[in-house]
Amino acid sequence: TGTSMYKAWLKYYRLENKELLTLYKQLLREVAVAEDSVITANAVNELKTGLYGLLGIKPVFSSELTGEAGLVIGTIEGSKEISGLLSADEKDSLGEEGFIIRFKTENNAGRLLVAGKTNKGLMYGVFNLLRLIQTETAPQALSRIENPVNQLRTINHWDNIDGSVERGYAGRSIFFKNNKITGNLSRINDYARMLAAAGINTIAINNVNVHEFETLLITDKYIKDVAKLNEIFRGYGIKLFLSINFASTLEIGNLETADPLDGNVRQWWKDKADYIYSHIPDFGGFLVKADSEGRPGPFTYGRTHADGANMLAEALKPHGGLVIWRCFVYNCQQDWRDRTIDRARAAYDHFMPLDGKFQDNVLLQIKNGPMDFQVREPVSPLIGSLKKTNQLLELQITQEYTGQQRHLCYLVPMWKEILDFDTYGNGKGTTVKKIISRDTFKNNYGGFAAVTNIGDDANWTGHQMAQANTYGYARLAWNPDLSSEEIAEEWIRRTYTNDSKVVDIIKGMLLGSWKAYENYTSPLGIGWMVNPNHHYGPNVDGYEYDKWGTYHRADHKGIGVDRTVKSGTGYAGQYHKEVAEVYESLEKCPEELLLFFHYVPYAYRLKSGETLLQYIYNTHFRGVEQVEELKQNWLGLKGKVEEDVFLHVLERLEGQLSHSKEWRDIINTYFLRKTGIPDELGRKIY
Ligand code: GCU
Repeated sequence: TGTSMYKAWLKYYRLENKELLTLYKQLLREVAVAEDSVITANAVNELKTGLYGLLGIKPVFSSELTGEAGLVIGTIEGSKEISGLLSADEKDSLGEEGFIIRFKTENNAGRLLVAGKTNKGLMYGVFNLLRLIQTETAPQALSRIENPVNQLRTINHWDNIDGSVERGYAGRSIFFKNNKITGNLSRINDYARMLAAAGINTIAINNVNVHEFETLLITDKYIKDVAKLNEIFRGYGIKLFLSINFASTLEIGNLETADPLDGNVRQWWKDKADYIYSHIPDFGGFLVKADSEGRPGPFTYGRTHADGANMLAEALKPHGGLVIWRCFVYNCQQDWRDRTIDRARAAYDHFMPLDGKFQDNVLLQIKNGPMDFQVREPVSPLIGSLKKTNQLLELQITQEYTGQQRHLCYLVPMWKEILDFDTYGNGKGTTVKKIISRDTFKNNYGGFAAVTNIGDDANWTGHQMAQANTYGYARLAWNPDLSSEEIAEEWIRRTYTNDSKVVDIIKGMLLGSWKAYENYTSPLGIGWMVNPNHHYGPNVDGYEYDKWGTYHRADHKGIGVDRTVKSGTGYAGQYHKEVAEVYESLEKCPEELLLFFHYVPYAYRLKSGETLLQYIYNTHFRGVEQVEELKQNWLGLKGKVEEDVFLHVLERLEGQLSHSKEWRDIINTYFLRKTGIPDELGRKIY
């Protein structure tokens, strides 16, 4: 943890802009705080650390300013001064987590206010003030009112209690080691700071695949240590959730069933909820993966997902807890010969009939696409179809299929496309972001969830630049209207420097990286083509004859899965009419998803005039060139970023370059051998 990379976006380098430095030193000599909660104390500590780093000052803290200039921090209720200075409108516009920053100048003396309706809001105000100074915002430009757009802004850890992390590429778990909960609470505190600074307010700390020992997290064996973690997160306004085992009553409860309609099972969970809340009064609730990939669930007893989720919801309800129930349910014992089953259809087929049947403290957590976090997928048709159900969108920050943090792949542009996708769920303009923010359908709860990329590596994310994805996810969850560019720029300024030349170079690298990755991996939405199990590296037929429902159906004439209603699996028909029509048609289907929806001959001409086959060749050559460019750009930053960061990223880019060639050559060779048609440009294919 000794490197600067550990501090992520909380580095607080001394401001390079001398004018701003002088201004802020003047302005922030004195700070008045009229609150004394734990959350406020954490915010004040952050302010001390931040201002010392950014400005080299240790302000005087008091309960009231003695002079004209200074910073006043408080809640509307707790501070007369704040209450007096804000208009009724301003106060009304603040939500539970919102904040106001106001800069006022009078007689050359500046006065800054940071206020929230609650302590949490105040804390976000302080974190945002630090962000704004860090990114060289002038005092005159600080004033703002912000409320988070999304209510739940959730991080999911797939951490196992033995310390391993499922799909983790950044070392071991920060929470668990050798079947124990970590004693390194200072690292957890730093993590909570990072998350709160970016706006996260919910965390599930253990893997959705709950094994033997994790099942015991809700027992005497672990509950006190879970409570210790919760205490840290509570101090930063973050609710803690646990993934639970649906079969707990069987495994640790001495019952002979886990039937959600069985009276003893229901009582067991009620007692269990009472027990958990007696240790953790503000416990968030349960995250559940049931009847999926071998996990137990209500199907065993002939019950539905709604029966299962509602049983848990009933137990948590008196305590204000939530059940987050995942929709990643499909047949993982498929026969590749059988073309009548389509995995892509599964989530919709399972959950659509249950719309309106869930308790009001249940949320369904829906993966962004119908398959599994491929580099390109259409948006899940469940989103926009479910109307009477609380929903969370599930994204994957950890780069399982996008280079496993050895490749640079900035995912924010992909997430933006998902968020801006028009489902037509309530007419034109029903974008995904409006559904999950509850703007469209006024459900009780909604928001973002994502599988994190965090581990115990000194830089948290394996590839230091993958921190941009953690950060970007959190910022989007706060405000999905931020652009990929804005988020990239913020992250770069907070992480490296405000030097605009450096900012532009790194920004260009981030923004182009997803497309580059897509270019040299699987084309036009077909996905997979990876080595089975660990999912790293090219293997075109790796999943072609397997049981997982992940096929590309290439033969010597063409490739792609026919998911049309007319001649295919009918998946395209799960969308609203306006969207379904587009996907159904070979001509209208967006080309980046062509092979997801259609079986297409290699000789088919794309809009660019290239044949499909030539497009595959071209993009694979192009993708590798783009990685060359990434590396060249980075080489130009020698001496402009810290040496250890420079060398670390360079080493990753070199690895990416050789691995992207592996992708290019294996994919191109596969298609050359299938078709016997050479590259029109005569480049080397093996
Ligand atoms: C993917 C991933 C698994 C994970 C699963 C899930 O299939 O490879 O490791 O358990 O998603 O989301 O539950």
